[in-house]
Amino acid sequence: MTNILEQKVLILDFGSQTTQLIARRVREAKVYCEIYPYNISLEKVKARDPKGIILSGGPASVYDKGAPAVSPELFELGVPILGICYGMQLTTYLLNGTVEHSRHREYGPARLSIDDPGDMFHGLSPDPVTYQVWMSHGDRIEALPKDFIGIAHSESCPVAAMRHRTLPFFGVQFHPEVIHTEIGKGVIANFLFRICGCMPTWDMHSFVESATNDMRAKVGSGRIICALSGGVDSTVTALLVNRAAGHQLTSVFVNNGLLRKNEAETVLAFLKQFDLKVHYVDAGNRFLSKLAGVEDPEKKRKIIGEEFIRIFEEEARRIGDVNFLAQGTLYPDVIESVSFKGPSATIKSHHNVGGLPDVMQLELIEPLRELFKDEVRKVALELGMPEDLVFRHPFPGPGLAIRILGEVTAERLEVLRDADAIVLEIMKSSSWYRKVWQAFAVLLPVRTVGVMGDERTYDNVVAIRVVDSLDAMTADWTRLPTDLLAKISNRIINEVRGVNRVCYDISSKPPATIEWE
Ligand code: XMP
Repeated sequence: MTNILEQKVLILDFGSQTTQLIARRVREAKVYCEIYPYNISLEKVKARDPKGIILSGGPASVYDKGAPAVSPELFELGVPILGICYGMQLTTYLLNGTVEHSRHREYGPARLSIDDPGDMFHGLSPDPVTYQVWMSHGDRIEALPKDFIGIAHSESCPVAAMRHRTLPFFGVQFHPEVIHTEIGKGVIANFLFRICGCMPTWDMHSFVESATNDMRAKVGSGRIICALSGGVDSTVTALLVNRAAGHQLTSVFVNNGLLRKNEAETVLAFLKQFDLKVHYVDAGNRFLSKLAGVEDPEKKRKIIGEEFIRIFEEEARRIGDVNFLAQGTLYPDVIESVSFKGPSATIKSHHNVGGLPDVMQLELIEPLRELFKDEVRKVALELGMPEDLVFRHPFPGPGLAIRILGEVTAERLEVLRDADAIVLEIMKSSSWYRKVWQAFAVLLPVRTVGVMGDERTYDNVVAIRVVDSLDAMTADWTRLPTDLLAKISNRIINEVRGVNRVCYDISSKPPATIEWE
């Protein structure tokens, strides 16, 4: 079987906010692609042996001092190149055309007229139709490089797309990766299939086959451990390794006592059907005693991270003679992008058991390191995980400890678990759960006065946090219907002992964060 990673397209990132979106679109067209910073060396590009190269957009102007550029030799590799926005301007600049600051800046939708229905616009009618495309540029092409011709224009952009007369070099001023560009999918598909000659082989079924084969070759008869958190990434990792070398794998599930209601039981019950060797460590008390009296959020996180590593090491030693550590690192965690990455780049250090391989001298196996989150979910479904587990919201490594403000105690955990379970139940039964990024309860151990029946109460507050987000870097609070909020509030106050007030968090990120600690 051919390796599906062999047929790849490289995307060179010039700092566009939509670079990852280009990668998504290429992969949706079933072609594997990788993102690299624009300054990747020519040798490395050659070594990756790509079928095509896409130059992303970016915020710079080609004439800026220190503007990001590639070597003109990139155009001598004999590999098809598509420049998008800044990528097109850079192509022009490097091949001796002229780029100018346009008096007509274009941001947002524009109408594109196709002048040449050839390769890039194959299958699209040139006349008299115009198509909506998404533009975002100040500069534009004034003089085409030698041997290039314009193949499309918009009202304020005479060269909205160009191609070389004979060589496979193309440029588009608009953003085909953006959903508002109605011909975007077609343009990308034409580049991949007609120009680069790629085959649509990248899908999650073939990924599972190829990842299994690769892993088998890599681990030989070595022994593997995997830290299971119950989340999709670590579970899929374990299932994949299990498929490749099940009898050599032991998965360690450390229950830190900070999980949601029935979470450990649900995950363990699900894993049973896969014959996965799971080493379950019930360490709730151990974590709780370490957390006793600690109020500072960062201290809590640190304690939990360190305790986790300690327990994991102990268990690994007990299992003995281990060579590999499997972990669920995803592609967004490994992309060396020049785009703004935000805190997500470091957030996962605990989650991914950072620090372990160094201490234990284990070699890493990361079968998901080429995948985006939604691809991992497809793999999960492919491997038979139920939708309920596959589409669970992200859950932080330190768990409920960072959703109980101040000290974490067994009593507070129980209150929060019950309140959180009600939030999730109502979100699911009202079909809101799948529409939002995260929904959860936060316990504020602040007591307020209330009245229940004829009695005065003096109990805690629960805050409800429901947010919409694309990548957790920014988020906005979800405008849930007020009836739904009323239902959540009523049920929590009536059913959860110790809570007499419910608030809805209406802060966006930034300046707030999604979690409260
Ligand atoms: P914040 O609170 O920074 O969260 O807006 C952004 C996203 O990251 C999750 N999160 C974590 N995930 N370990 C994790 O694995 C952590 O320590 C951690 N802290 C926050 C959070 O749930 C949200 O999805």
